Amino acid sequence: MADDRLVRAEPDGEDAGLDSSLRPRTLAEYVGQAPVKENLAVFLQAARQRREPLDHVLVYGPPGLGKTTLAHVIANEMGVEIRVTSGPSIERAGDLAAILTNLHDGDVLFIDEIHRLGRVLEEVLYPAMEDFALDLVIGSGPAARTVRLDLPRFTLVGATTRSGLLSGPLRDRFGIVHHLDYYGLDDLTTIARRSAGILGARLEPGGAVEIARRSRGTPRVANRLLRRVRDFVQVAGEDAISARAAAEALERLRVDRFGLDEVDRRLLSVVLEKFDGGPVGLGTLAAAIGEDPGTLEEIYEPYLLQIGFLDRTPRGRRVTRLAREHLRGPGGSSSGSLF
Ligand SMILES: Nc1ncnc2c1ncn2[C@@H]1O[C@H](COP(=O)(O)OP(=O)(O)OP(=O)(O)O)[C@@H](O)[C@H]1O
Ligand SMILES: [Mg+2]
Repeated sequence: MADDRLVRAEPDGEDAGLDSSLRPRTLAEYVGQAPVKENLAVFLQAARQRREPLDHVLVYGPPGLGKTTLAHVIANEMGVEIRVTSGPSIERAGDLAAILTNLHDGDVLFIDEIHRLGRVLEEVLYPAMEDFALDLVIGSGPAARTVRLDLPRFTLVGATTRSGLLSGPLRDRFGIVHHLDYYGLDDLTTIARRSAGILGARLEPGGAVEIARRSRGTPRVANRLLRRVRDFVQVAGEDAISARAAAEALERLRVDRFGLDEVDRRLLSVVLEKFDGGPVGLGTLAAAIGEDPGTLEEIYEPYLLQIGFLDRTPRGRRVTRLAREHLRGPGGSSSGSLF
C-alpha cells in the first residue's frame, strides 16, 4: 500500500524541514500531554535547583506525537546543548564511545529509535548511564585489561515507537519513563491554530476543528493537513481557512471526517466484504491486501483500533458496528466527531 499517504504519521520530506520551525521549544508551548508535562516540570525544576543533569528519560509512543520535540524541549528547559543520533545510525561501539566522550557536562544525548541499538552498544551504555563512565578494553588475550574513562555527566533521552522491543536492563536504567498518547480534538485544534500562526495562514476556529478532527490524534498529521488545505484555499483565492473551505479541501484530498483515507477504507472493506466482517487472522488479512503483517500491525491498524473501527479478538481482526455505519454513511463518511 501507499507510502505517500497524506495521513501517515511518519515524516515525509516536507515535514522534515517544517518540523523544526513548527516545533514547540518550551514546555509551556508543548500542547497537551498534561500528565507528562506536569511531572516533567517538577523533575526539571528539581534538577536545575540541584545544578545536576536531569535523570535519563525514555519517551515512547506512536510516530508523530512529539517524542523528538520533547527531547529538544528538555534540553532547552535545562539550558544545555542537545546531541542527536539514532539507534540504527550507530554501528560500532567506537562510534558510541566517540559520541559520549564528545559531550559536555549537562548535555542531552538524544537517541531516537533506541530499540534498534545493538546489544553490544547497549552494554557500552550501561556504565555510561549509571556511573558516567566508559569501560575500554585494551589489548587482547591474557594481557587484556579494562580501563575506566570518566564521561561528562549527561542526560540520555531515548525515544521509541516500540517499547516492547527494548531490553529490560536498558529500560530499567531510565529514571523517568513517559508514554505519549494520541491527542484529543481540543489539543489538535490548538496545535493547528498555533502552526497556522507560525506559517502566517489565517485559520478560522471552525477550520481548525475541521483539520483537527481528521488528524488521527497526531500533531504531525494536523500540520500536514493544514499545509495542504492552505494550498487549496490560497489557489481558490480565499483569504482565510473557514470550516467549509477546510472540509472541501479535505474531501478533495480524500481524507474523510474520521481522518481515514483510501488505504484505511480499503482495509476495512476487505474485512467486510471478503471475510464477512471478520474475525480474520493477521496473516490472512495481510495477504488479502498485499501487505506484510508487520506493516499492517504497526502502521495501518493502530489508529483503526484506537477509534474503535477494528477489534482485535483471539481469533483475528473484526470490523466493528461503528465502522460499518461509517462506511455505509453518505459518500462513505458519516457525521460526528471522534475524540
Ligand atoms: N505537543 C505538541 N504541541 C505542538 N506541536 C507538536 C506537539 N508534539 C508534536 N508536535 C508537532 O508535530 C511534529 C512531529 O513531532 P515529533 O517529530 O516530535 O514526533 P515524534 O514522536 O518524534 O515522531 P517519530 O516517531 O516519527 O520520530 C513536530 O514538528 C511538531 O510541530
Ligand atoms: Mg522523532
